[in-house]
Amino acid sequence: MLPLKKTTLLLLTSLLTLSSTQAISAPTNNEDQDTLKIIMQGLLKNTHKITQGIVLHDFELIEKSAKNIAEHPKPSMITRMKLVKAMGSDMGKFKTKDDVVHHSSVNLIKAAQQKDMHAIQQEYQIMINGCVACHGEFKERVAKILK
Ligand code: HEC
Repeated sequence: MLPLKKTTLLLLTSLLTLSSTQAISAPTNNEDQDTLKIIMQGLLKNTHKITQGIVLHDFELIEKSAKNIAEHPKPSMITRMKLVKAMGSDMGKFKTKDDVVHHSSVNLIKAAQQKDMHAIQQEYQIMINGCVACHGEFKERVAKILK
């Protein structure tokens, strides 16, 4: 009797977890815009964790969070197509900004593995500057395109 109950409970718990995750990731009235926004929210969350890792000298947390940034999901195909079409020749510039954040996150992984706090702080700075630079140049424009 008991194992059965346990299974039911487990099932229920996982179902609940599933639906609450969905509730967070899909409040959708505009799916295209949401995919990029959700990716961005993930970047911010992981940036927070890197800050925490730096403050607490938690190299594992830094490595894990930098990896999440380096391997962040791509926006949906539709989003990417809309962007390419609307941005035209500026798409290259947009990509370059994205590359800055990508490269620094890859360097952050290495620096965390080497427990090199100096390099971590340097790369962290480059990464944050990369976020801010792209937002300064493209955030409003892209938000309008995807609206
Ligand atoms: C290549 C350009 C680019 C880079 C690099 C970039 N962002 Fe963004 N970010 C955007 C754009 C464009 C938007 C607006 C998306 C929209 O409104 O649809 C945005 C929006 C956001 C938002 C708001 C999301 C929301 O819910 O409205 C956050 C948070 C964010 N970015 C965090 C970050 C962080 C943290 C980094 C660096 C680790 C970063 N971004 C790097 C382009 C970029």
